[in-house]
Order: sequence, then C-alpha cells, then structure tokens
Amino acid sequence: MTIAVTGATGQLGRLVIDELLARASADQIVALARDTAKAADLAERGVEVRAFDYSQPEGLAAALNGVDRLLLISGNAIGQRVQQHTAVIEAATVARVPLVAYTSVLHADTAKTLAVAPEHVATEQLLAEAPFDVVLLRNGWYSENVVEAAKQAAATGVILTSAGDGQQFTAPRADYAAAAAAVLTAETVEPATYELAGDEGWTQDDFAQIISELSGKAVAVQQVSAAEHQAALAATGLPEGVIGFLVSTDAAIADGELADPAPGTLSRLIGRPTTPIRDTLAESLQA
Ligand SMILES: NC(=O)c1ccc[n+]([C@@H]2O[C@H](COP(=O)([O-])OP(=O)(O)OC[C@H]3O[C@@H](n4cnc5c(N)ncnc54)[C@H](OP(=O)(O)O)[C@@H]3O)[C@@H](O)[C@H]2O)c1
Repeated sequence: MTIAVTGATGQLGRLVIDELLARASADQIVALARDTAKAADLAERGVEVRAFDYSQPEGLAAALNGVDRLLLISGNAIGQRVQQHTAVIEAATVARVPLVAYTSVLHADTAKTLAVAPEHVATEQLLAEAPFDVVLLRNGWYSENVVEAAKQAAATGVILTSAGDGQQFTAPRADYAAAAAAVLTAETVEPATYELAGDEGWTQDDFAQIISELSGKAVAVQQVSAAEHQAALAATGLPEGVIGFLVSTDAAIADGELADPAPGTLSRLIGRPTTPIRDTLAESLQA
C-alpha cells in the first residue's frame, strides 16, 4: 500500500505526513513536493520524496507511479487552482491511481457566499467524472485562521465584524490532518463525502469572551454592515484583496456557511473530540 500526499511541505501536508507516520511505515508514504529541498527532513524520516508541481503537468503522472491512494491537498494559488487540480486529476488517471482524496471546503455544494467555494466545486465536478474512487474531505475553517485576529483584539480591545450572530465550527489543521490520515490508512476506503468541522460552533461574542478570559483584557464586539466593515478596513491601508476576503468571509459566516448543522463527523473519524477554539487561542495568546 503506497499513500502519496501533495503539498507535503505545506502546513496541513506536514501534519498529514506526521499522522501517516504514526499509522503506517515510512516506506508506504510518498511526499509530493514542488520543492523537494523543503522536504529533506521528510526524506530523513524514511519517506520517499518526489517532485510534484501542479503547474508542470508533464511530470505529474510519472511521479504517481505505484501510488494506491493519493491525497490531493488543494493548492493555495487562488484563481489558478482549477487548472492545477485538473492537471493532477489527469495525471492520477494516467497513472491509474485507484483512489484520490481531496481537501475541499465544508458544504462546498451549497455555499453561495463563500469566496473559495467555486474552485472547490469545480474540482469536485472534475473528480466526479474521473475513473477512480473519490473521497471528499470537506474541511471547515481552520481555527488558526483567527489567531491573528484574536491577538489584535487582545491588543485593541475591539473585534470589528460584519459576521452578525453567525457561528463558525472551526478545528485546527492537526484535527483535519488526523482525519485525512485515518481515511487514507483504513483497511478499505469507500467513496464518500465527509463534512468535517469542529464539534462546537462559536460566535463573535463567544470569541470576544474567550479572548478576554485568556488575555485578561476586556474585548468588545462591534457589529457593522459589510459596507462599513469594508470602509473601516480600507482606512487601515490593508490591500484590497485582503479586505475583500475578510469581508466576504464574514458574509459567509453570517449566512451560516462556516457552520455545521450536523457536527460530529470529524471527531468520529479521529476518535476523539475536536480541539476547542479556546485551546488553539490559548497556545497563541499565552505564549
Ligand atoms: N479550511 C481553511 O480554513 C483553509 C485555510 C487556508 C487554506 N486552505 C486550503 O487548504 C490547503 C492546505 O492548507 P495549508 O494551510 O497547508 O496551506 P499552505 O501551508 O499554504 O500549503 C499549501 C501547499 O500547497 C503547495 N503548493 C502550492 N502551489 C503548488 C504547486 N504549483 N504545485 C505543488 N504544490 C503546490 C505548497 O507548496 P510549498 O510547500 O512549496 O509552498 C504547500 O505545500 C490550502 O492550499 C488551501 O487550498 C484551507
């Protein structure tokens, strides 16, 4: 059984490799990296490292030779991902990989506001037409995404948000990595779609309360409209693209698109409760 992971030198990819090493022997694992030098430490741990750049389609099929299960970790080049993922799917087809798992986003098929959803939906459609078995790991928001905002809130005493009362069911990368490894190392893997998210949701008020408790500083939530949010962020000099991403993410939260109406799949896959947002913030705010 050979299990390969793309983006193996990324934050999630490294955690997946760690989890795979805890469940399988190193000679069963292939780390696919666009810069193999960055994976030298993985090679030292006995993992085979192969060059794999989504933007260089010609080498991809050969790099998948002998792979039984492939984890395609979605790329981070927003706007180029469908083309990049297409190249990987075509390579997996040529290499006759029997099973591909893909890191999509929570409820990709019903998300209407979430800016990152369309590229995931397009990739899911390509996977649905592919000749191999597919497992969709629809990952919810990472808890780490809000660590910087928490630090800023602790420093300024304010959370400026247009997310309303929307809940986020976040989990840290390590929990999603453990789920991916559990799926990839299972004795048999059936085609499936997993909606993966934290066990419990939290609102901006919950966020403020946790930050206050951890930092010892009072933090107030200031709810504004999307237009007011955009204007306030523009006044700070943030790049337009970042502002657009932050405001549209809050809109998605307000619309319930980062919430999981039926939580528990992630904790079931990893065999333990998901890590609460408080624990992730405690590591950063108290460091
Ligand atoms: N659910 C969420 O909250 C959330 C948040 C952010 C991102 N994501 C998605 O989840 C993915 C993994 O998250 P992450 O935190 O691990 O992101 P990350 O640390 O940015 O890792 C992305 C990985 O993709 C690799 N990559 C980028 N372009 C590539 C290319 N052309 N060919 C081959 N590999 C390429 C990177 O290679 P290098 O190591 O060489 O840089 C890196 O290993 C992201 O890429 C994104 O699609 C989800």
